[in-house]
Amino acid sequence: MIIEPAHRAKQATEYYFSVKLGEVRKLVSEGHDVINLGIGNPDMMPSAGTLDALKQSADQPSAHGYQPYTGIPAFKEAVARFYRKTYGVSLDPVKEVLPLIGSKEGITHISLTFLDPGDEVLVPELGYPTYRAVSQMVGAEVKSYPLLEEGGWQPDWQAMAALVTPKTKLLWMNYPHMPTGAPATEALFREAVAFAKAHRVLLCHDNPYSLVLNKQKPMSLLVVPGAKEVAIELNSMSKSHNMAGWRLGWVAGAEEYLNAILKIKTNIDSGMFRPLQDAGTVALDNSDEWHEARNAVYHGRLEAAEALLTALGCTWDHAQEGMFLWGKLPDGSADAGSLVDELLYKKHVFLAPGFIFGEKGRRYIRISLCLPKERIWAAVERISK
Ligand SMILES: Cc1ncc(COP(=O)(O)O)c(C=O)c1O
Repeated sequence: MIIEPAHRAKQATEYYFSVKLGEVRKLVSEGHDVINLGIGNPDMMPSAGTLDALKQSADQPSAHGYQPYTGIPAFKEAVARFYRKTYGVSLDPVKEVLPLIGSKEGITHISLTFLDPGDEVLVPELGYPTYRAVSQMVGAEVKSYPLLEEGGWQPDWQAMAALVTPKTKLLWMNYPHMPTGAPATEALFREAVAFAKAHRVLLCHDNPYSLVLNKQKPMSLLVVPGAKEVAIELNSMSKSHNMAGWRLGWVAGAEEYLNAILKIKTNIDSGMFRPLQDAGTVALDNSDEWHEARNAVYHGRLEAAEALLTALGCTWDHAQEGMFLWGKLPDGSADAGSLVDELLYKKHVFLAPGFIFGEKGRRYIRISLCLPKERIWAAVERISK
């Protein structure tokens, strides 16, 4: 006898990487040396102070019990300090910061909090697949809004306005953008806040890449005057602090929005392991030099990734920021899916095909910078042969 899963579980498709990484593992188990440039999983260490704080905290008898649902005060104060120093944004650490077990889970909490079945959600095409998947899981209707390649992958505001109906409740946005690397600008953030106000939608900005290979001062959407009325921002230590497996993030914004999210969240998890929060508190104070050193390593990898795109005949936008390089396939070549399979099985190099971020990505590939540059150069050599 098999008990049928719910409609929602049947509708959900397995995450592309969970399927494809199975194929990569199989090739590795057969003895092949696969260079995996698919997933964005930082391979560098957190700062030394972060690791010391984790160890010291884990030695405390009081560290192992349940922690407050709202996070420990020291971590929230560190987030507020980080926002002031990094973005020039002031946050009340008690009321305007809610720690999350990674920002990905925040997408679910926000969706459960603000969306009723049948409500509509504006999701970027191209974009992080979780916005769409979670919206569908909670019974909302996804309206994909176009990003304009000619305009540097900025939202097409007119097209977006045409998608708005009285049921439109939420708008997802993410700059520096994944996967295209399009940078944030203050003009873009101002326009987004004005749009959210004009159309009475909650603007959820997802901001995990602001400190990675940024060419300008990192930006938060909350810098726009009046943004907190209609916008909340997810942020994460996964990429900026090399702590992806730790699952440390937060949502920042007005107390009313955060309290509503907290009500849902307290029914789902029971707070975050204390040593993670103690170590995260230290990491948030990492020096500018620490961040510069991390970015210097990514720069070296970026050069190799650019050589890889050249070897494939691809073109790319040099304004990109973040932890990936997004390349356009040459005209007349096979589409990204066939190219990725060919490279995986013939050259044992794995890249992400652009279509996993939306249909518009059919003729693009994404290279992750999460391997040492020597490995990326090795991929260039294999492909050039
Ligand atoms: C755009 C975007 N948002 C959110 C996340 C999730 O990050 P976290 O590790 O904080 O859950 C990712 C991770 O790849 C991402 O690319």
